[in-house]
Amino acid sequence: MPGSPEIRVLDSVGAVACEAFARVVSAAESAIKKRGRFRLCVSGGKTPEALYRALSDEKTAPALPFEKVELFMADERRVPPSDPRSNARLLREALLRGPFARAHFHPLDGANPDPQAAALDYEMLLRHRLGPEGFDLLILGMGPDGHTASLFPHSPALWERSRFVLPVAAPTTVEPRVDRLTLTPLGVLNCERLLVLVCGEDKAEALTRLRAEDGDDAETPVRLVRRFHGVASVLCDRAAAGIVAGP
Ligand code: 6PG
Repeated sequence: MPGSPEIRVLDSVGAVACEAFARVVSAAESAIKKRGRFRLCVSGGKTPEALYRALSDEKTAPALPFEKVELFMADERRVPPSDPRSNARLLREALLRGPFARAHFHPLDGANPDPQAAALDYEMLLRHRLGPEGFDLLILGMGPDGHTASLFPHSPALWERSRFVLPVAAPTTVEPRVDRLTLTPLGVLNCERLLVLVCGEDKAEALTRLRAEDGDDAETPVRLVRRFHGVASVLCDRAAAGIVAGP
């Protein structure tokens, strides 16, 4: 039943990364057992970096058949792949290392001068690589303004009804203010399991809006996960949950 996602409040950013690590491994094992491959789609941003490093570090990486992992992107900034703002660059530096380098990476092409063509190419790739169940696991983040992937408040992409991927204009409220390519709500909901990682006190207000029974999805795009038919989980630290540290 769609509705409020499971919310797990964990003690720290590190504990969020640990729990996310366990969820990734369990989703990977079950997808590989069921379908012989694991299609993981991930977001950019700072929050998932510790998770990515733990998954790819020789000392901590799980014992998975990484050649059966396909890695997709939920969004990308329209910058060259070498730009520090590129999500593909973050993934190459933090995740696609060590044993994880054996995974098949499907980057969104932020350097393509024609964003419509780049979005359409990725759309075709997704339609070709994904079965009716969609991604086996999608990991999202959430901005302080309630955006997720690159679906910003009041973006026309929020009302898209047929496409999985679209180009969108640069946000006006958060950095980096560059144009993006993003999964649409249809693309986000096309998955078997959904995990949202939320850390930091600047996220507390948006998290309250996500949890509220009633609210405006255009104002708080991450609320679209409430329409998900499978299990959506939010892993957050105490700061994001609004729990103030004691004296
Ligand atoms: C991006 C994202 C974006 C991100 C949130 C949270 O590329 O900007 O995919 O949706 O997940 O902004 O970012 P932080 O983890 O840095 O707070």
